[in-house]
Amino acid sequence: MKIAIAADHGGYRLKTVIMDFLKKLGHEAADLGAYSEEPSDYPDSARSVARALMDRRAERGILVCGSGVGACIAANKFPGIRAALCHDTFSAHQGVEDDDMNVLCLGERVIGPELAKEIVSAFLAARFSGAERHVRRLGKVIAIEKEFMKGKD
Ligand code: RB5
Repeated sequence: MKIAIAADHGGYRLKTVIMDFLKKLGHEAADLGAYSEEPSDYPDSARSVARALMDRRAERGILVCGSGVGACIAANKFPGIRAALCHDTFSAHQGVEDDDMNVLCLGERVIGPELAKEIVSAFLAARFSGAERHVRRLGKVIAIEKEFMKGKD
């Protein structure tokens, strides 16, 4: 799968661990920065990953910051991005199956690398169910986006 991954300084080390993990799993992962622990801004990481999905250069995204919160807030400002902060495997797969989550957000200062890898695996293995009720709810989410989000993709 084509995956775009990015982090700010708070998520840099965990991003490195996840990048190695993705390669081992055989995924095509694009590392969109940051490339060091020099202070950087999570909205910039979120923009890079969101843009990759919006341009169809990636099918899924992963964002890491200190808590995962800032990156998640920023990512959800982009049309078509359904980002969620998941620090458990259940949310990571159910978020895809029911809600068609396309960006996983993680907090390096909250979880350890082994749990992060399990969460990433659960996220990537999951597929949207396409069940009628979930499609209906997603349609309502898209309607909210169209009603309130200005700008273009
Ligand atoms: C950076 O110090 C930190 O605020 C950021 O990585 C993230 O946790 C924000 O939500």
